[in-house]
Amino acid sequence: MESLLIKGGVPLEGEVWISGAKNAALPIMAAALLTPEPCIIHRVPNLSDVRFMAQILNWLGASVTFKDGTLRIEARKIKGYGDYDLVRKMRGSICIMGPLLGRLKRARVSLPGGCVIGARPINLHLKGFEALGAKITIEGGYVQASARRLVGSAMFLGGRAGSTVLGTANVMMAATLAEGVTVIESAACEPEIVDLAKFLNAMGAKITGAGSPTITITGVKELHGAEHELIPDRIEAATYAIAAAATDGEVTIKGARADHMHAVLDKLEEAGVSVVRRGPDLIVSRKGRLRPVDVTTLPYAGFPTDVQAQMMALMTLAPGISIITERIFESRFMHVSELARLGADIEIEGPSAIVKGGRPLSGAPVMASDLRASAALVIAGLAARGTTQVNRVYHIDRGYENIDGKLRQLGARIQRIEDT
Ligand code: EPZ
Repeated sequence: MESLLIKGGVPLEGEVWISGAKNAALPIMAAALLTPEPCIIHRVPNLSDVRFMAQILNWLGASVTFKDGTLRIEARKIKGYGDYDLVRKMRGSICIMGPLLGRLKRARVSLPGGCVIGARPINLHLKGFEALGAKITIEGGYVQASARRLVGSAMFLGGRAGSTVLGTANVMMAATLAEGVTVIESAACEPEIVDLAKFLNAMGAKITGAGSPTITITGVKELHGAEHELIPDRIEAATYAIAAAATDGEVTIKGARADHMHAVLDKLEEAGVSVVRRGPDLIVSRKGRLRPVDVTTLPYAGFPTDVQAQMMALMTLAPGISIITERIFESRFMHVSELARLGADIEIEGPSAIVKGGRPLSGAPVMASDLRASAALVIAGLAARGTTQVNRVYHIDRGYENIDGKLRQLGARIQRIEDT
């Protein structure tokens, strides 16, 4: 197993290019199942989650090639439904269900199960499929959706934490090939949903309202191949912006979309971080001392849950009390105990973490748990005095392309080592 060895205390300086968005790539890859014609997707990040999704599509019968950031997917004939035990290994692959239901009128996948950040139910996905006329059965750890015909209808997909991103993606994809009009109320508004709708429309779908809480899909008979370039990864961009602030450096973030990052950039500025927009570039540096801020995660366009851990790492450096409240997932504080090993003073009170910031961090071996918690540990290690070893770095490789290479380019003393 690999680890990242970090010698902290170096201010990050220079330019970093942001990769294509992982959370746009996964549903868009699944969407290619909706047509027998080839689809070409550019700016695809080389991540383990993306390679795994490519394996799943391959397993389903699609031909998939991935070279220099471009994916070519041709799902000429896809397997009838079969047992996709793979879904359990990567939750995000649940988004193959909508396309399979749309194209084959049936889909059978293993229930994704929970993960370290929460139970990760799919009740809203299934509610949407049923609203399209699918019959849902759950047996032996598998969920099956089947329909003689899919018929568009109006549905409400809001859940206990607001909308569902992959639930919106799944139902939207199935609805493209349903008969009639589907209206999804309380749809997810994330930029990744907008990117997926753009790709589906390029394939001949008829979708309006993506990016708003009401998405309308007028079903068509079939979809054709399309070519698409992914949006940049707003979570990766936020992670590097926070790393720049945490190390008191100055980093130019290239290829990001500031208009996808308002909540994060606003919160960083409130915390005393300078964010200067120069054309498409973002120049991030610290303007003197960091200030403590309160953060609550919300569905888009609120502060993203995927940046909560990274923001907490930054707040351990801001003298004073910051309150970080997680409203999307029920247990997304795995990083708290690991940050404490670096000297952070954080207490959990229900959905909130109370960060008493300002004490310098000192390096120690820490354990990565989920993708974004691991990124938070890297940020803390970069800011800490001494050496930090982040173990189980495979978590990070799921969502960050070449993170050690990109950080080295910014002057970080970081190397990937084989864990003895
Ligand atoms: C997507 O997961 C992202 N993953 C997650 O990013 C992200 O944290 C999450 O959206 C929220 O923004 C991908 O896009 C691959 P949800 P998703 O359905 O779609 C509840 C990362 O780090 N819910 O929006 O699975 C659920 O329990 C990952 O890149 C139901 O109750 O998340 C949660 O509390 C982590 N019933 C809330 O909604 C359902 O049927 C939001 O979940 C579905 C969800």
